[in-house]
This record gives sequence, C-alpha cells and structure tokens, in this order.
Amino acid sequence: MIKLNKNKSKIICLTAYSRNIASIIDKHCDIVLVGDSLGSVLYNFSSTKKVTLDMMIDHSKSVRMGVKKSLMVVDMPHNTYRNPIEALKNAKKIILKTKCDAVKVEGGKKNFQIIKTLVKNKIPVMGHLGLLPQSAKSFKFKGQRISERKTILRDSKILEEAGVFSIVLECIESSLAKEITKAINIPTIGIGASVHCDGQVLVTDDLIGLNKISARFIKKYSNIEKEINDAVLNFKKDVMRSKFPTKKHSY
Ligand code: KIV
Repeated sequence: MIKLNKNKSKIICLTAYSRNIASIIDKHCDIVLVGDSLGSVLYNFSSTKKVTLDMMIDHSKSVRMGVKKSLMVVDMPHNTYRNPIEALKNAKKIILKTKCDAVKVEGGKKNFQIIKTLVKNKIPVMGHLGLLPQSAKSFKFKGQRISERKTILRDSKILEEAGVFSIVLECIESSLAKEITKAINIPTIGIGASVHCDGQVLVTDDLIGLNKISARFIKKYSNIEKEINDAVLNFKKDVMRSKFPTKKHSY
C-alpha cells in the first residue's frame, strides 16, 4: 500500500498526458497524475465527462515511459466506477494496461464501497473532493455554505476510512482546507485550496503557459507558448532564406 508523508516536506504533484512532459516533471515530482483534464486541455471537450477509458489508457501508456521515480496516478473517467463491480473491472484494466501505481476517483460518501472494494483488491486509490469536474454543474469554489463545509469535511473522513492514501482538494475555501488537513491522517493535495494542504497539484500545461485558460488558482511559471512560437518563426525564416538545412544538417 502507498504511504505518503504528512507533516514533513510538501508533496509535489503535476499532470502529464504524454512521455516527453512526464520525463521532465518526473525529476521534480512526488506524484505524476494522468488527469482527465486532458479532455479539456488536449481535446477541447466542454467537460471531462466525454473522456473515455481508452483515452486515459492510451495517454497513460505514453506517460508511463517517462515516469521513472514518481508515483503515477491515473484518473478513472466519468461513468467507469458507478458501482464496486464496474470500478474493480475498470481499475484492474487501467493498472494492467498502463502499469500505473494508483487510480483517482472523484466524490465522497457515494464512493465508500467502491474505494473499499478497490483497496481490498490491492488497488491504491487517491480521493478527490471539493469541485468535482466530472459532476459539477458550476465551477464555483466550495465551502462558503456551512452545510457544504460539513459535507466536505465529513466526506474527507469517509474517504480516509475507506482507505484512500491521499485526497485532492479542488477549489476549496482556505479555512476549510486547513480544517480538513488537520482532521485527517492522510495528506491533502490542493488545487485552488490554499497553502494549508500537505501538497499542491497543478495542470502542467497551465503552469508552463501552454493552455489558454486563466483562473485564480493558476500561476504561470513560464510562457512556453512564446518559446514555441519563436522557435517556429526562426525555423520558418531560416527555411525561407535557405539558411536551413546547412551542411551540418545535411547528408
Ligand atoms: O484531471 C486533473 O488534472 C485533475 C487535477 C486538476 C487534480 O484531477
């Protein structure tokens, strides 16, 4: 079973959808997540609901080639874990075909039996609470209403009891993220959920400036779009002026 440090150094998690990015981020991450965010980031889907099991498996196979040291976690897509039997069948398929270390499922109480079944069958599971893109009707942050806070806090304890090894907290009000992080013995990994979590996750394409979207919780650490643009422009200029290929790049 997977045991991540809590209350020691922060856990670093980033997404990857292919080998080249995976091999770069693997050096600096504890966890590489093949997120179903690939549906919106790569395929321009309006929601992650359209992501299929086959898409997740294909991208994960590519990521597996780049991940050498980090824990590799794969999102179970929408409608692939509606009951324990379906969840077990599909999680086994993901693990078998991609050789990943764990799967991630979205949701709280309703997933209790599902998670218990997976864990009993030696499949490590990461939880995901707060904003749940697979079922969200709106993309507002969570934890303003008292009843909502209570439910998310209760769900974090239910997921811990079911056996998840960590929980992603997405777009959760800061003091609630702090309360949850204190209340449970497994690490919380935040995205838009404050500095109080045990670790942080971001979508790599957002962090490097390749994805067009902007949101309060995203910090762009580079402008890779500009880098690519400049490289392509320079290639084009060289070709136009017959400066590429030179002898060095010819046979
Ligand atoms: O799909 C994804 O990339 C995720 C992260 C944003 C946590 O679930």
